[in-house]
Amino acid sequence: MSTSPHLLAPPHRRVRRHLLSSADLDRTQVRAILDTAAEMHGVQQREVKKLPTLRGRTVVNLFFEDSTRTRSSFEIAGKWLSADVINISGKGSSTSKGESLRDTVLTVAAMGVDALVIRHHASGAAHQVSQWVDAHVVNAGDGTHEHPTQALLDAYTMERRLGDLEGRHVVIVGDLTHSRVVRSNLITLRTLGARVTLVAPPTLMPSGIGAWAKADGFELSHDFDAVLPTADAVMMLRVQRERMSGGFFPTPREYTVGYGLTRPRLDALMTANADAVICHPGPMNRGLEISPDAADAASSLVLDQVSAGVAVRMSVLYHLLAGNDEGEVS
Ligand code: CP
Repeated sequence: MSTSPHLLAPPHRRVRRHLLSSADLDRTQVRAILDTAAEMHGVQQREVKKLPTLRGRTVVNLFFEDSTRTRSSFEIAGKWLSADVINISGKGSSTSKGESLRDTVLTVAAMGVDALVIRHHASGAAHQVSQWVDAHVVNAGDGTHEHPTQALLDAYTMERRLGDLEGRHVVIVGDLTHSRVVRSNLITLRTLGARVTLVAPPTLMPSGIGAWAKADGFELSHDFDAVLPTADAVMMLRVQRERMSGGFFPTPREYTVGYGLTRPRLDALMTANADAVICHPGPMNRGLEISPDAADAASSLVLDQVSAGVAVRMSVLYHLLAGNDEGEVS
């Protein structure tokens, strides 16, 4: 990494004022964020993990849903860039006294913050918040809608192991209906030219996915074993039982038999392609969608994804905040 990210070349095209959806980023912008992340990643190896880039800026993490990875990595990212970082969670804030999202956000913004990183259970919440405040808004996961920084860190992690993702086959398996990760990953992976196949039981395929697949050129399958041997990367999605109101599969055992990355499937994957990698955005349901053997395999990138999360979020904050109000780095 260069001694200061102030020395980084500005991106060819602006990263917009907010990051609300993966669709906000064209290929040049994704490339710029991933390339900056690669430089930021070097900071993690340093003894003193601090850059002066965002000194004097204030970032508020506003989390209305639980999080381990996203929240802590945004906090670390902001701190390593020398921003002042404040964490506010739904539990323990005045929302528990009935304060609305709008009043909460306006209250926080009135304190003079530069960026709001928001996670909320309502799809569209980050977009709504961006209409209310002047601060930069980053979507850290909104309901079942999107999780754009997860998609960026997933792409970054896969690229580091596989190289250019153009033409690479990424197979995403599991609870597509409740996953914001899959939507953002689809957009970012297609932006980077990857071939994507989504695999799920019919009950966990979102309605309208067929038309989207046709329009955007990705594939759908209910047969994990048929798709597995051609995969360069297999991304397992968490079964989101907390978002399920009905029975989406007969029993956990039957789900695992059909759609889990079990030991036999891990062996089949490695036999077909010894360089294939395994991803999971976390948190994992070990023994349900992914076996411990697969989660801890040499081909598993699960902890690499977590590590990349800090670098990618540093890059996102840098691109949004280290320039002028348009997000242009000067
Ligand atoms: N992948 C992800 O968003 O994890 P957390 O819910 O722990 O942030």
